[in-house]
Amino acid sequence: MGIRKGILSVAVALFVVAVFSAVSFAKPIIMKFSHVVAVNTPKGEAANYLAKLVKERTHGRVIVKVYPNAMLYDDRAAIEALQMNAIQLACPASAKFTGWLPELQLFDLPYLFKNTKHLHKVMDGPVGKKILSLFKRKGMVGLAFWDNGFKVLSNNKHPIVLPKDCKGLKFRIMSSKVLEAQFKALGASPQVLPFSEVYSALEQGVVDGCENPWSNLYTKKFYEVAPYTTETYHGYLGYVLVTNQIFWNSLPKDLKKIILGCVKDATAYEREEAAKLTKKQRALVLKDPKVKDVVLTPAQRKIWEKKLRTIYPQFYKTIGKDLIEEAIREGQGT
Ligand code: LMR
Repeated sequence: MGIRKGILSVAVALFVVAVFSAVSFAKPIIMKFSHVVAVNTPKGEAANYLAKLVKERTHGRVIVKVYPNAMLYDDRAAIEALQMNAIQLACPASAKFTGWLPELQLFDLPYLFKNTKHLHKVMDGPVGKKILSLFKRKGMVGLAFWDNGFKVLSNNKHPIVLPKDCKGLKFRIMSSKVLEAQFKALGASPQVLPFSEVYSALEQGVVDGCENPWSNLYTKKFYEVAPYTTETYHGYLGYVLVTNQIFWNSLPKDLKKIILGCVKDATAYEREEAAKLTKKQRALVLKDPKVKDVVLTPAQRKIWEKKLRTIYPQFYKTIGKDLIEEAIREGQGT
């Protein structure tokens, strides 16, 4: 009896040790998160915050490894890598999805959003839901919209006050047909280039100017090589945080729930950081004595709006007239 009891206790102890080791030594699930901007940007900071939340709340069962500054991929390659499950998170600007989901160009339409309140209403409402659901079509899962900000123009030729001042200038753009049409409407030449090549393209005269939110302008020092800035705020640059279906479907339900909670909290944090950094980094750019900044008067802004809104009908088919009109309607009262 004594011997049997002893054997039983040893067996139980071995079982407990085996289970404990399996749990504590189970390899964590790694989510590689590739992005192209600096760490001290809204996206860069929120990516790290998301990684922190996921590690804490899954007790290390899931680890998000963040690769900033295009150290793994530029955005196009990141989307392809995501689809093949070589990475599990990406957060490209909405414009970068043009080749896969042209509807995403909605966010590039110039002067579509009256202000950030309008923008968030669209993202958090039915239009945003529709857009996130489109990612299924391409093997991805749209998780959230992340902010950067409204764009300013910068160039190294001369100050730009009115649309006509853009005539003949070469501007770097992201790969979006809307952005192409926008610069063509201004009589300028748009040129698609990856984000990582913008500084040298400006320096070497491949392009004369670019459009960026303040945070990207500051952190990548574009103002050093394109010091004439114009606060047109003509368009918006924001992101879609995406994973892929192969990875997402392989996750147990409990982890999915935890990760979605982390995404929700990281998104709220990201929006706050975007607002703070835009203000702070604008001031830092304007502190440089070489920067010559133009702030538009309300009358000048009206001229820009009138000029650039003329391109909308070109996109009624690819983006959807209904979607554009719904997004405009959601701005009522904001
Ligand atoms: C760009 O290419 O200008 C942006 O997509 C960079 C970014 O991610 O903010």
